[in-house]
Amino acid sequence: MKTLQRTLTIVKPDAVRKNAIGDIIEQFEKNHFRILAMKMLEISKHQAAQFYAVHANRPFFNSLTDFMSSGPIVVLALEKENAVADLRKLMGATNPANAEEGTIRKKWASSIEHNAIHGSDAEDTARFELSFFFAGYELAQ
Ligand code: CMP
Repeated sequence: MKTLQRTLTIVKPDAVRKNAIGDIIEQFEKNHFRILAMKMLEISKHQAAQFYAVHANRPFFNSLTDFMSSGPIVVLALEKENAVADLRKLMGATNPANAEEGTIRKKWASSIEHNAIHGSDAEDTARFELSFFFAGYELAQ
């Protein structure tokens, strides 16, 4: 039996500023992710800090939360078999200098911080991140 998995992705403020939203969403659809929910919003620095709490002790935390609250983002709930790993493959390496050809970060990221897209790194992280942005009733059946 096929097991569907859900993951959370964010089109980050740098990619929104570059008018890359459509191109990135096209990649999700072409790669057989089903979009369960999607919204555009701005988050505060405090909300960014809550979302990225796991990185609170990292030297880049202040800069990361400034950046993530610097403009509109698009958050999507995605579903497919193996969604967490497949999305991370499609995104490419965190540092675009190491991202493979054909990945979203290779095309749109300009630095390790301004790296265009976020994707959950594990199934339990995905559950937390999905519930951070979406209530259950907002997800397509
Ligand atoms: P993301 O997948 O959103 O998860 C955490 C983010 O922290 C990561 O993408 C990068 O944008 C950022 N990040 C990770 N490492 C560094 C770093 N060394 N310097 C600056 N930002 C970083």
